[in-house]
Amino acid sequence: AQVTGARHFLDLSQIPATELRRILDNAAAIKARRVKGAPSAFRPLAGKALAMIFDKPSTRTRVSFDLAMRELGGDTIMLTGQEMQLGRGETIADTARVLSRFVDAIVIRILEHDQLTELARFSTVPVINGLTKLSHPCQVMADVLTFEEHRGPIAGRTVAWTGDANNVLASWVHAAERFSFKINVATPPELAPSGALVDFARANGVALNLTADPYEAVAGADAVISDCWVSMGDEEEEARRHALLFPFQVNAKLMAAADKHAIFMHCLPAHRGEEVTDEVIDGPQSVVFDEAENRLHAQKGVLAWCFGAEAP
Ligand code: CP
Ligand code: NVA
Repeated sequence: AQVTGARHFLDLSQIPATELRRILDNAAAIKARRVKGAPSAFRPLAGKALAMIFDKPSTRTRVSFDLAMRELGGDTIMLTGQEMQLGRGETIADTARVLSRFVDAIVIRILEHDQLTELARFSTVPVINGLTKLSHPCQVMADVLTFEEHRGPIAGRTVAWTGDANNVLASWVHAAERFSFKINVATPPELAPSGALVDFARANGVALNLTADPYEAVAGADAVISDCWVSMGDEEEEARRHALLFPFQVNAKLMAAADKHAIFMHCLPAHRGEEVTDEVIDGPQSVVFDEAENRLHAQKGVLAWCFGAEAP
């Protein structure tokens, strides 16, 4: 439960479907008007500052939030956990109280999800989840935007996930509930979705189909999705994960088992030759760089929503 009334973006499961749809509509409208390299006309966040706390590495999330905030007219302050007093034991609650006096919103990438929710609890300004061990909601907003650009409305469609049941998958399951699509998930039994995620899906009527067979998962799917086998924080399990996950690789043979119009999606960074082969990620069905670009546009939708800014 949050102490303050700020509009946090923590998980797709916590934001009404109508609001998520508004964020995507806004993102698409802002995207349509953007001319790369030219000053943007829509600058509703002029005078506002975004603190960006990155306790873990990032290319896409970091660059897209920084640029999104600037293009909406605002400023950014980049911080890493170790540079802050947070790295020397200052509490998350006190960090939230202090940053709230300085800045107008905070995006944070931190593995412990409880630290994200604690920050939001004590922050009087919006807090945005830039990835935790449990979820990556900004990624999947960009992914839904990308799916719909290529394949039309996602409602009623089927996406297939193959590999590790990680943070990105959790946000896809949340999205399946909010945007009413079906999701087939193929994992080894040892790396299956958590009980909490499965309970969420069951309690909310998500059409979630779990299997250990990637061919079953992709059959008839409109999108095939994979992600790394070793997420941040899982490094010690690398050898075990590689052995378990090799049969879940997305290669030309697996891709051919999906719908012939299926797209291949991946949040990146990709580990070529592991979860996906070059021929798939560089092939005609791959939309991975559109997904990466859409992080920028989706992030603008999220930021505008946090500040209650209307579409251009
Ligand atoms: N997809 C994604 O979040 O990438 P980064 O780790 O580079 O931010
Ligand atoms: N599942 C990956 C996503 C990286 C963007 C990780 O958590 O490392």
